[in-house]
Amino acid sequence: MIEEEAKQRIDELIELVNYHNNLYYQQDTSEITDYQFDMMLEELVRLEQQFPQFKYPYSPSQRVGGSVTKSFRTVRHKYPMLSLGNTYSTDELIDFDNRVKKLLGHSNYRYFCELKFDGVALSLSYEDGILTQAVTRGDGSKGDDITANARTIKTLPLRITGNNIPQIFEVRGEAFMPNEVFHQLNAEREANGEVALANPRNTASGTLKMQDSAVVAKRNLDCYVYSLMMENPSFPTHSESIAALEKWGFNVSKTYAQCNDINAVIEYIDHWATLRFELPLETDGIVVKVDSFSDQEILGFTAKSPRWAIAYKYKSENKPTVLKSISYQVGRTGAITPVANLEPVLLAGTTVKRASLHNANEIERLGLRIGDTIFIEKGGEIIPKVTGIDITKRRQDSQPLKFIENCPECGTRLMRQPGEAIHYCPNIKGCPPQIKGRIQHFIHRDTMDIDSIGERTIALLFEQQLVLTPADLYKLQYDDIISLEGFKDLSTRNLLAGIENSKNSGFERVLFALGIRYVGKTVAEKLAYHFRNIDGIASASYEELIEAPEIGDRIAKSILSFFEDADNQQLIAELKEIGLNFEVKQEAVNLGNGSLSGMTFVVSGVFQSFDREELKNTIKQHGGKVMNGISGKLNYLLAGEKMGPSKLKKATDLGVEIISEQQFISMIEGNGSIQ
Ligand code: IVH
Repeated sequence: MIEEEAKQRIDELIELVNYHNNLYYQQDTSEITDYQFDMMLEELVRLEQQFPQFKYPYSPSQRVGGSVTKSFRTVRHKYPMLSLGNTYSTDELIDFDNRVKKLLGHSNYRYFCELKFDGVALSLSYEDGILTQAVTRGDGSKGDDITANARTIKTLPLRITGNNIPQIFEVRGEAFMPNEVFHQLNAEREANGEVALANPRNTASGTLKMQDSAVVAKRNLDCYVYSLMMENPSFPTHSESIAALEKWGFNVSKTYAQCNDINAVIEYIDHWATLRFELPLETDGIVVKVDSFSDQEILGFTAKSPRWAIAYKYKSENKPTVLKSISYQVGRTGAITPVANLEPVLLAGTTVKRASLHNANEIERLGLRIGDTIFIEKGGEIIPKVTGIDITKRRQDSQPLKFIENCPECGTRLMRQPGEAIHYCPNIKGCPPQIKGRIQHFIHRDTMDIDSIGERTIALLFEQQLVLTPADLYKLQYDDIISLEGFKDLSTRNLLAGIENSKNSGFERVLFALGIRYVGKTVAEKLAYHFRNIDGIASASYEELIEAPEIGDRIAKSILSFFEDADNQQLIAELKEIGLNFEVKQEAVNLGNGSLSGMTFVVSGVFQSFDREELKNTIKQHGGKVMNGISGKLNYLLAGEKMGPSKLKKATDLGVEIISEQQFISMIEGNGSIQ
């Protein structure tokens, strides 16, 4: 393809992808299949790799991430990012209104109310309609440049077009992780035996500081914008600037309202007091702003915050109820979670019967006793938390609570590692919820995907002692199943077919299904591609393990202890015998055809389609050799993004051919060698 054609096609693809993105994310519809969309995006990425001169900062390919930032640059804000004065009462709000009236010397002003979104404040710079920089609030005067990560936020326009768009402007907004995404992420973490994340706000903040923007892209952050800033404002009011932002395609929450006076503001506050819990994100109050910019200018600022705005914070709804008892749940990994059983109480629109207590430290910190009147509060979690005790209501005869010492399911004495908050039941092999939990994990959609078996069936199979390990699933016979409660001929055959089909699952799924602690979906994939087969992983030393991508000390130790265990070795031997995949299928890694035979390569930088180890393995499989240093004898320097300039210079000086990832892919796909 010649340059001109490439540019034209890239422009075309950018338009198409943007069009379909907009349909999908803003209008909840679509005209093409996910596959067609992926193909379009893939073509765009491929062309941009081939013609990097046409890789624009506003290309929707930026949304999928791929760049790695080692440390974030500190950037000074052009306009400082101030905070807001807080109030918790309508009386204080009326005082605020009186101050505004007095300072303005008239009462001919309006307010603009928005919800106060609980996320991470971002400052977004646009030049000639293109998003050029995204910076966190930091200390208010300087923050971190997290542009690559912000570009992955799908609702954030990377380029805006239209009439009367200022050449330079800044948009302020709140990046957040929608509650639904947060809960899904935590469910996945729990399935991987990882500690749950505390709340959506901290998770969004941590996500924006991740080094790998491809991981950020998968976290599905969103952003609501709430102010437009520029040298000479082209709009007389905040409401008009918000309307302009909406018109330009920014994501503005539809919850705002113009209020003619402070009474209307109070109505707005009441209106959202409980409705806000139905929004896709957490909010902790409302922001009241004087609408006219000229009035804002008259009112000015104090040292920390504007005099033209104030935040009204909702008191988090806190209700008293009685602690009836504490239950202890045992997870797949043996972790014990205490749960408070409560006298049912209505809180923020729902009846609450249970509250989470996290661990023994939390019970101790609160000093809980059965029968206590406790206060519960609804935060970001679905399950509310206990915030305190009404000690005046404590019964004389109540006793301090002692955390259980034995597993409520199997009676084994619990263990707690020094420095750890969580108690574990060490009876991994014999504790029923741990056994059932492992089978559940094994059949999960993300692992062996045996959807013909549900939680109830696992319980039945366990009760009958038919399935105690994943390998037992494959030994089940027709007669075993048909005799179970609720099973008929068709459901029995479906169940067996589901189990049989699972034998086709790829090695990375099998590896994840084994339930090695801390080896989640992504880590299992990385391990599978790095070591190629189970024996490679099982025999790897600590040093070899931590050399693999994304494997750190904690994961490496967990892998070592898993493979040291005789029962786990036996399980793997049985599953191998049954015919599960314990190596990466050859075709999945491009069966080496010797197309690189005799050629030498140095690999440098970051790549789109491979991680570095995968790339090296692919070279070897095709008969090529991977070298460490650049010398005159080297055939190719395979250059990714962010390659060091010294390597590039050395290769150029020595006349070594420098090839892109795309050119390399053409070589192994047999599209000829490099000309
Ligand atoms: S306007 C001078 N509007 O609240 C500051 N801020 O306490 C004007 N926030 O750092 C900010 N929702 O992170 C504004 N609708 C909203 C907001 C909002 C959340 C946050 C923002 C800011 C903090 C100020």
